[in-house]
Amino acid sequence: MEHVLKVDKVDKIYGKGANSYQALENISFTIEAGEFVGIMGPSGAGKSTLLHVLATIDSPTSGDIFIEQDNIAKMKDEQLADFRRDHLGFIFQDYNLLDSLTVRENILLPLAIAKQPAKEIQEKVHAVAQTFGIEDLLEKYPYQISGGQKQRTASCRALISQPKLIFADEPTGALDSKSATDLLESLSSLNTEHEATIMMVTHDAYAASFCRRILFIQDGCLSKEMIRGNQSRKQFFQLILDEMAQIGGDGHDII
Ligand SMILES: Nc1ncnc2c1ncn2[C@@H]1O[C@H](COP(=O)(O)OP(=O)(O)O)[C@@H](O)[C@H]1O
Ligand SMILES: [Mg+2]
Repeated sequence: MEHVLKVDKVDKIYGKGANSYQALENISFTIEAGEFVGIMGPSGAGKSTLLHVLATIDSPTSGDIFIEQDNIAKMKDEQLADFRRDHLGFIFQDYNLLDSLTVRENILLPLAIAKQPAKEIQEKVHAVAQTFGIEDLLEKYPYQISGGQKQRTASCRALISQPKLIFADEPTGALDSKSATDLLESLSSLNTEHEATIMMVTHDAYAASFCRRILFIQDGCLSKEMIRGNQSRKQFFQLILDEMAQIGGDGHDII
């Protein structure tokens, strides 16, 4: 299988000298095309740091990060901005929608910035809105729709440019359980039916149980990998809870 992401011996050290703090240590792993991978770990373990470094939002102190054949750890800022726009998709906890734009305009923004032809853009908007069941909301503004619908809009925007890799950072963190389940089911079907490659950071075992593979991070190091294989989502959920109980001593430590 071909890798979409190859992380090789990545370190991240914040600050300098006596005030420095090593947030990531010798992280290496790969994600292959079509995978749905979760990153889990206790609070302060380095999950957000890892996501930021892989998603070109921050740079590693050392190591290499290949997205397909491009080493983003060696790219200059300007090159990174283009790379991010053309090849990566983002879904954040707080949606990051623009309030003055309609749902349709929010979704098509990345393609408009990339100056794609208008007809093509509208066709893509409809296709992606259908996948997430929000065709009826396209002319509404963010303040007129629910949190779950906002997150579906944000997901459509992340996907419309058909990114090589989608990064999701606690995407269900602000949603009620019904909306969270709907979103996780949409992400799963995007992964299985459209072969989207997704990496999702979450502290929530239920959200993680929708992934096919989970990497656990502790004190800046990868500590364990769990693969769902043929297990049902419910069985996988139980295994994740067991693992969290072991790591944290008590599930409440895992936030
Ligand atoms: N900008 C920063 N400067 C210094 N230390 C940081 C910075 N960002 C995060 N850290 C530290 O790095 C560690 C990992 O943080 P983070 O990646 O946010 O963990 P997580 O997302 O798993 O909770 C924590 O100890 C945190 O205090
Ligand atoms: Mg975090």
